[in-house]
Amino acid sequence: MQKKEYIQKMFAGISHRYDFLNHLLSLGRDRYWRRFAVSILPSGLILDICSGTGDMAIQVSDRSRVIASDFCPEMLALCTQKMQKQKIDNVFCVQNDAENLSFRDGAFDGAAVAFGIRNVDNIKKALSEMRRVVKKGGKVVILEFSQPDGRFFGSIYYLYFKKILPVIGAAISKKNGAYSYLPESVMAFPKRNQFVELMIRSGMKDIEFHDLTFGIVTVYVGRC
Ligand SMILES: C[S@@+](CC[C@H](N)C(=O)[O-])C[C@H]1O[C@@H](n2cnc3c(N)ncnc32)[C@H](O)[C@@H]1O
Repeated sequence: MQKKEYIQKMFAGISHRYDFLNHLLSLGRDRYWRRFAVSILPSGLILDICSGTGDMAIQVSDRSRVIASDFCPEMLALCTQKMQKQKIDNVFCVQNDAENLSFRDGAFDGAAVAFGIRNVDNIKKALSEMRRVVKKGGKVVILEFSQPDGRFFGSIYYLYFKKILPVIGAAISKKNGAYSYLPESVMAFPKRNQFVELMIRSGMKDIEFHDLTFGIVTVYVGRC
């Protein structure tokens, strides 16, 4: 099975438990991480790729109209339900592949992705697509897990992340692979400077990054 198909099936399989596990396994920090990332975005029309159940899009919707896109129908169905339940009428959930977006060049004031870029098959292609659909001067904001520095915090964190989290995730989602995939994919993800290099190569400028919560996650910002 190709990575794309594997990822799509994996998220379909855990979609019903995704939000609950996200909040539980991050001890509620995921909301703060997204809020920080969203605060950097401009207002206007924003694209949220790999939007999943739409938590990032909801935060963006406070001051912008949002297209929440994802390639997994099961995650998107939950996204749509959530918008209806919360009576949010400025978020539109649409199916789209992050590596081949169906939007025209420069259509958006900004683009965002939270915990999604690590999962796409061709990261460079997805970054180039984000850059392409954002107008000149707009921003791309990327929130992703990182490998924390610091020996003391690192050893406790990795014990939790690699040994405890996969067990809790598997028990609650009733899927074995997905929560082992999480630490494996984070360890395989490019280091901060390598990722910045990919952003530059996709055509973004003025790149900054901000580590949050001891470097567990990093928010990358690029100008188009
Ligand atoms: C870890 S979830 C993140 C969801 C959400 N952004 C959040 O903050 O919770 C990753 C999402 O990326 C989506 N995804 C992975 N590869 C994709 C691709 N090539 N195109 C579109 N969506 C993709 C998955 O379907 C999944 O919903």
